[in-house]
Amino acid sequence: MTKLSGKTALVTGGSRGIGEAIVRRLVADGATVFFTYNSGADKAQALVQELSANSASSSTVVALQANVADADSVAALFKAVTAQSARIDILVNNAGITKDGLILRMSETDWDSVMDTNLKGVFFCCKAVAKIMMGQRYGRIINIGSVVGVIGNPGQVNYVSSKAGLMGLTKSLAKELSSRNILVNCVAPGYINTEMTEKLTDEQKKKIQESIPLGRTAEPSEIASVVAFLASDDATYITGQTLSVDGGIAM
Ligand SMILES: NC(=O)c1ccc[n+]([C@@H]2O[C@H](COP(=O)([O-])OP(=O)(O)OC[C@H]3O[C@@H](n4cnc5c(N)ncnc54)[C@H](O)[C@@H]3O)[C@@H](O)[C@H]2O)c1
Repeated sequence: MTKLSGKTALVTGGSRGIGEAIVRRLVADGATVFFTYNSGADKAQALVQELSANSASSSTVVALQANVADADSVAALFKAVTAQSARIDILVNNAGITKDGLILRMSETDWDSVMDTNLKGVFFCCKAVAKIMMGQRYGRIINIGSVVGVIGNPGQVNYVSSKAGLMGLTKSLAKELSSRNILVNCVAPGYINTEMTEKLTDEQKKKIQESIPLGRTAEPSEIASVVAFLASDDATYITGQTLSVDGGIAM
């Protein structure tokens, strides 16, 4: 019996980076896991095959294509998940993008696409899952924010606004759903070694390294373990919080 056996989770953007680490960890903890990918079906299916072959428990892993920024695509996603599972116990809103630039050069399209994926996409997924979790009188929603949503960052007004918005959404939804035993929290990672941060210049990476009290960037698994904790019965009295997992940057 592992910590999440009997639980069903849905993870958005689970085919790589932090999302992939979350999928791996939830499967290891015994959950049945549905995860989405936006593009890269081969990589997603390879992950399903690897985890299904290695899984010691009877957990099922399923990959589904979805664009969280598109209401119809999210509706189709939830239709597909509920056709295969009577419950969704855990939703991890992990899908996110960056389109960085200083404000004078940032286009309306770059603003909109980041807000649409990072904030409106979470709204669509929370709305769909709230109905299911309210019926179950049980649920865990974990939103992946960012340290920059807490402290701000030049060149990222779109991304930072979306992540700061996510903290407000988390608090409001936590209050709205608390009477139905649905806990809503946000995890705010610092700088994690993924494709998203590979894009940074060496100079940016050096500056970041110097700003981290623990003196290093983190591995995706270090975020996944905190998500698994919030999803588990070890965290029954935490809701509406943003938990910084950032090596001490935001303090
Ligand atoms: N890497 C970091 O340092 C870092 C730091 C703080 C927060 N985060 C946040 O963590 C989350 C994951 O980041 P990552 O570094 O693993 O990024 P990544 O770019 O490696 O992966 C992002 C995932 O989101 C998916 N995605 C993007 N747009 C989508 C859409 N419209 N619909 C569905 N899926 C979509 C991608 O397919 C991919 O699977 C993001 O929300 C990001 O903002 C990352």
